Amino acid sequence: MASASSQKTVWRDRLAALRNVPPVLRLVWKAAPKVVAAGLALRVVSALTPLAALAISKWIIDLVVAAVKHPGPLPHQIWFLLGAEFLVAALGNVLGRGIDYTDARLADEFTREVSLRVMEHAARLDLESFEDPAFQDKLERARLQATDRIGMLNSMGRLLLQSITLVSLSIGVIVYSPWLFAVLVICVAPAFAGESHFAFRGYSLAHSLTPVRRELDYLRIVGSGKESAKEVKMFGLGGYLENRYATLTDGVIQKNRELTRKRLWWGSALAIIGSVGYYASFAYLVWRTLLGELSVGTLTFLAGAIAGSSNQLQSVFSLFSSISDQALFLTDLVDFLAVKPRIQSKPNAIMAPRPIREGFEFRDVSFQYPGSTRLVLDHLNFRIEPGEHIALVGENGQGKTTLVKLMARLYDPSSGVILLDGVDLREYSVEDLQREIGVIFQDFVRYDMPARMNIGVGRIEETDQDESLWTAAKKSRADKTLERLTGGLDQMLGRRFEGGVDLSGGEWQKFALARAYLRNAQVLILDEPTASLDAVAESEVFARFADLARNSTAILISHRFSTVRKASRIVVLEGGRIREQGTHEQLVTIRGRYARLFELQAANYR
Ligand SMILES: Nc1ncnc2c1ncn2[C@@H]1O[C@H](COP(=O)(O)OP(=O)(O)OP(=O)(O)O)[C@@H](O)[C@H]1O
Ligand SMILES: [Mg+2]
Repeated sequence: MASASSQKTVWRDRLAALRNVPPVLRLVWKAAPKVVAAGLALRVVSALTPLAALAISKWIIDLVVAAVKHPGPLPHQIWFLLGAEFLVAALGNVLGRGIDYTDARLADEFTREVSLRVMEHAARLDLESFEDPAFQDKLERARLQATDRIGMLNSMGRLLLQSITLVSLSIGVIVYSPWLFAVLVICVAPAFAGESHFAFRGYSLAHSLTPVRRELDYLRIVGSGKESAKEVKMFGLGGYLENRYATLTDGVIQKNRELTRKRLWWGSALAIIGSVGYYASFAYLVWRTLLGELSVGTLTFLAGAIAGSSNQLQSVFSLFSSISDQALFLTDLVDFLAVKPRIQSKPNAIMAPRPIREGFEFRDVSFQYPGSTRLVLDHLNFRIEPGEHIALVGENGQGKTTLVKLMARLYDPSSGVILLDGVDLREYSVEDLQREIGVIFQDFVRYDMPARMNIGVGRIEETDQDESLWTAAKKSRADKTLERLTGGLDQMLGRRFEGGVDLSGGEWQKFALARAYLRNAQVLILDEPTASLDAVAESEVFARFADLARNSTAILISHRFSTVRKASRIVVLEGGRIREQGTHEQLVTIRGRYARLFELQAANYR
């Protein structure tokens, strides 16, 4: 067992965790008010049935004992009492089933509510958060709360039920003898302390194992996922993955086993103390009955009430302890829901300009990724006029994608400002600003969803507008692929679900491009949109690009100079700074960095 001071913190933490219960109860109530109310009502009635049954038994037994002592006609009340006893038992049974029913309903509603809340909240958080492993752990634990905390709800329901039963039975015992009741409480206390201690240790263990569990999940995904299947086979990774998985799970199993073993021994020992209390009291009552100081009916009533209340007391204690431990797990959920996105609209945020009149201006913008000291963008100054078509070039890792993420407010600059029409981007409503930016990143998502959705996500409110979807597909050259799909727009794409068809890399890319066109935004940003396109498709896409982006500001990131040279301005990024900029002809004339890169690529084609 742990030292005294750590025990103290343990207790403080556990009691503090009970703070999490009210917000979660509000969540539960919101999830299903009627079900909760029905469950509560059923429990209150059901809780009183044990006392009623015991009281009726006492009367029956006293009547029987009296009838045996003084033979004569059976008192007719006995039939009435027997009938009542039967009804109470039947009622208890029916109520119990009713409670199970409401619990099952509540479990579904609670899972739904919490899962939705977690999804909804996660969608609002900063991109930066998702890149932080500690956040991933927190998200994982919060996600588990949806299903794992159903046990806590049941415990709470049982706690209510058993507390009422306990109070009713205790009153029976206390009326007879308060100190008898005190003895029972004292005997149950050690078992309670033991339960609590181990429950807390269980939580600490589960908490510390979250990173391991995430790694296990990851190994499972890599080992059995479609994405990685090709490489797993070719590189023969199966054995390695299995070994790693086995080693990790063995560690988890070992730790769990140690804890459950200790819990078994201590739990049993402490529970015996509770039984001692009960049987000592029982023996005392038997002795008093033999002396003729108690009627046989009273003996059965008290024996039942004592057995009942000491049982209820034990379980009320252990329920309370399990609730306070589960409340510790809720810390994860409550913490997660309390994480505030840093990038969000100010209360008095303004709408994005329509149309954009002055364009974007980067003013001394520097940026470093959280947790890194390297300046990815280094005091960057430049403007993008409205309607301009800019090509952004530079070697790998020079900050091209980062620059775009800043424009789209997925991150904010570490220092300096980005202005749109002379106003700091942070003054605009984030959602409204992002609505005016159509960006397709180089690592765009291949949605395992119907073709309709793969285009429609660009403007989610238009997923049922077949005509707009087809128009966007035509612009991005995805229409030929779409015509070939047997299910048309409703054809499932990807291999994850039944009936899905996989596409080639270039075909996926054309669908992604279609999203950008569907978006119909004032700013169009394409991060290597043609990386997977064949030469014909690329030239087709770009022959039309200038035309399609006529009314928009466009930024194109590409490593293909055949594409880049058509842009109205080429910006060369190096080490987070602008190395040079101008038209293709200007840059070739000055024979700088661009000219060298261009020559290098051109040379390969000669
Ligand atoms: N999420 C991130 N967290 C930390 N560092 C990052 C992150 N994303 C990128 N970086 C770092 O920032 C630098 C610039 O990355 P960026 O993606 O902007 O390069 P890029 O110019 O788009 O390169 P490429 O041509 O390869 O796409 C890289 O050195 C990279 O290591
Ligand atoms: Mg990039």
